[in-house]
Amino acid sequence: MKIFKSKQKLQSEISKIRNISFVPTMGGLHKGHIALFKKSKSLKSNILVSIFVNPKQFNDKKDYLNYPRNLRNDLSILKKFKVDFVYLPNKKDIFSYKTSNKIFLDKFSDRLCGKTRKGHFKGVINIVNRFLEIINPKYLVLGEKDFQQLYLIKKHILRNRIKTKIISCKTVREKNGVACSTRNNKLNSSQLYIASKIFNYIKLNKYSLFNNPNQIKRKVFEMGANKIDYVKIMNVKTLKKPKTNVEKFKIFIAYFLGKTRLIDNI
Ligand code: PAF
Repeated sequence: MKIFKSKQKLQSEISKIRNISFVPTMGGLHKGHIALFKKSKSLKSNILVSIFVNPKQFNDKKDYLNYPRNLRNDLSILKKFKVDFVYLPNKKDIFSYKTSNKIFLDKFSDRLCGKTRKGHFKGVINIVNRFLEIINPKYLVLGEKDFQQLYLIKKHILRNRIKTKIISCKTVREKNGVACSTRNNKLNSSQLYIASKIFNYIKLNKYSLFNNPNQIKRKVFEMGANKIDYVKIMNVKTLKKPKTNVEKFKIFIAYFLGKTRLIDNI
C-alpha cells in the first residue's frame, strides 16, 4: 500500500494506470466503506482511497472540527484490505489548483439536505471533481446511503462529460438496522437504541405510511429524536411524491439525536 500526501507524487505514480477504482472518504472507516473496497476489488482494478475531511462541505465549523478522525485505525483497515494507493491531501494540495470542469449543481441540490445544509453539496461536488481531475479513475465507487450526494455527483459527471463510471453500493447496516455511518461513533448506547427503533419503525410501516410523512415525524419525535430536518417520501426516479405504494419509492429522513445528525433512506 503506497501512501501519498502530494498530488504531484500521486499523479506521477498513477498516470499510466488506466483501471483505477476510486473510493473517496472522510475517514472514520466502517463496514459501509469496507463494502466499497470489496466492490472495488471485484472490479479487478487498482484501488485508490482518499481520506480528507473536506472543510468546504461543512456548513457548521463546530461540526467540521468535531467530525470523528482516526487516521491510524483507518490506515490499518486499508492495509488489511490491500488497498493499492492512499491519498491524504492537505487543504493546500487539493484546493490550490484551477480546475478544468465547472461545478454543476442540479436543482435537486436545493431539496432534502440542501435545505438545511447551505453550501454542503457545492462543497461535495467541488472536492469530488478535484479528485476526479487529479486521479482520472475508471470507476468512482459510492454508497447509496447518501442518495442525494450520489444523484448530484452523477449529474455533475454527466454534464461535464467525465469518463469515470459511477458504481453504487447498497447501504450497509448494523445488526440492529442502523445504517453504518462515521457519525454513529458519536452516539451513546441509548441513542443507538433510538436510532434502531426509528429505522425498524419506518421499515415495518413503509408501505402503509407512503403518503403520511407527518405521522412518521410524530412517531420519530415520540421515539426520542430532538430535531427533525425532514421526512420526505419520493419516487426514486421522478423524485416526486408517490401516488401509490406500488411505485418504487423511498422514505428519506434527517434527524438529530442530541447534537448528532443522522440521515437514512429506507
Ligand atoms: O461521502 C463522503 O464521505 C464525502 O461526502 C465525500 C464523497 C468523501 C466527499 O468529501
